[in-house]
Amino acid sequence: MDPALLARLTSGEGWGLLQSLPPYDESSALELAGRLRAAGFDAELVGAALTQSRLRVRATRKFGEAAAEMFFTDDGLEQATRSELAQLHAARFRDSGLRHVFDLGCGIGADARAFARAGLQVTAVDADELTAAVAAVNLRPWERAKVRHEAAEAVPLPTREVAPDTGVWMDPARRTPGVADITGRTRRTFRLDELVPSWDFVRETCARMPGAGVKLSPAFSHAQIPAGTQAQWTSFDGEVLECVLWWGELAWQPGRCAVVVSGRFAYEVREDDAVGAESRTARLDRLHGFVYEADRAVIRAGLTGALVRRVDGSELDGGLGVVTSPRDVVVPWAKKYAVLDAIPFNVKALRAWARDHDIGRLTIKKRGASVDTDQLRRQLRLSGSATGTILLTRVGGAQAVLMLAPLP
Ligand SMILES: C[S@@+](CC[C@H](N)C(=O)[O-])C[C@H]1O[C@@H](n2cnc3c(N)ncnc32)[C@H](O)[C@@H]1O
Repeated sequence: MDPALLARLTSGEGWGLLQSLPPYDESSALELAGRLRAAGFDAELVGAALTQSRLRVRATRKFGEAAAEMFFTDDGLEQATRSELAQLHAARFRDSGLRHVFDLGCGIGADARAFARAGLQVTAVDADELTAAVAAVNLRPWERAKVRHEAAEAVPLPTREVAPDTGVWMDPARRTPGVADITGRTRRTFRLDELVPSWDFVRETCARMPGAGVKLSPAFSHAQIPAGTQAQWTSFDGEVLECVLWWGELAWQPGRCAVVVSGRFAYEVREDDAVGAESRTARLDRLHGFVYEADRAVIRAGLTGALVRRVDGSELDGGLGVVTSPRDVVVPWAKKYAVLDAIPFNVKALRAWARDHDIGRLTIKKRGASVDTDQLRRQLRLSGSATGTILLTRVGGAQAVLMLAPLP
C-alpha cells in the first residue's frame, strides 16, 4: 500500500467498501475478493481493504474493539504498543503535569492515541511516509493531535524555558535494515547501537527536555541506565514487554523499578522495596512450606530482594527469582505454591514419585535448570490419572525438583 491508496481507502468509496466487509475469514478471502472485483471495485482497492480487514483481526489482541476503527501496516502493527501499556505511558505524562508530547517515531500511532485520549496535545512524527499517513488516520478523532512526516532529528523542539510543560516520547525502531526473517519482515534487534533514531540522539534529546520517556527492549542492560533516570521493566500477563527509561519530571524515583500489569491492575515494585532484604540461600533438606515465583519484570529489574523481604524468605538460588518461606502471604506480583516434596534431580526417583502419586498429566516448570523437558516427559512414562506440578530448578547450587501445588 502507498499513501495514495491509503487515502482512497480512508475516504469515499474505499471507506464504504471497508465498512461493508464481513468479519475476516482467511478461507473465504479469495472468493470474496473475486466477488468484489466482479461488482466493479478495482483490484488494488479490494486488496488493500482485505489486508486491513485481516490486520484488524490480528490487532484485536493488542487493541481490543478499537482495532476495528484503526488502520495498520504489517510492521506498524507488530511494533505498536498494546493499549494497556500505552495508557500507562500517557497517564505518567499527564500525572507529571506535562501538557504537550512530541512522539518522535510514532509508528501507526498506538502510543500517540493514548496520549491524545489522556487529554494531552500530541505532535506525532514518523520518518516513513506511509506510516505517518496511517498515524494521521488513527489520530483523526483528536483535533489537538498533529502528525508530521519528518525525521525526528529534524524536528525543532522547544526549549525547557519556553515550554516547561512539553515532553518527548520515543519508541525507537529496533530493526536491522535489510535483514529479513523467514516471514519477510525486518529482523528485531536488541542492540543499542542499531536503534533508529540513534542511542546518542535519544539520550541527548531526552536529557534537555523537562520530561521524556523512551521505550526499549526488556533486554536493556542495567549497566546502560543513564544517571538520574528511572528504568521501568513492565510485564503484561506474565510476559515482559518493555523497559521504559524516564527522564526529568517523569523519573519519579531514579533507579530501577518493575510494573506488573495483570488484568485491570498494575503493581509497582521499586528499589526501596528490596532494601534490607537478607541474602540467604535455601537448603533442599530444609525447604519451607511455600515457594513464591517473582514476575519476570521484577527479576529483569533485579528486584527479587523485594520478594525475599515481602515474604521473609530465602532465594532457592541466586538470581532465579524463586523464594521459599514458611509464611503464607498474598503477593500480587508473584505466583505462590505449596511445597509438597523436594528431591535432588534424578529421573529414576522422579519416575517413582510420579508412579506412587498416580500422575498422568504433569506440568513441568523450569527456573535455572538446563533439562530437556520433552525428553524428561518421555523418560517419566506417565500413565496415571492424577495431575501434578513440578519445578526443575537449583537449590543452593545443585539441580533439584520441587513437587508443588499451585495456590491462588
Ligand atoms: C517501534 S515504532 C513506534 C511504535 C509506536 N510507539 C506505536 O505504539 O505505534 C518506531 C517508528 O520509528 C520510526 N522511525 C525510525 N527512525 C526514525 C527517525 N529517525 N525519525 C522519525 N521516525 C523514525 C519508524 O518508521 C517506526 O515507525
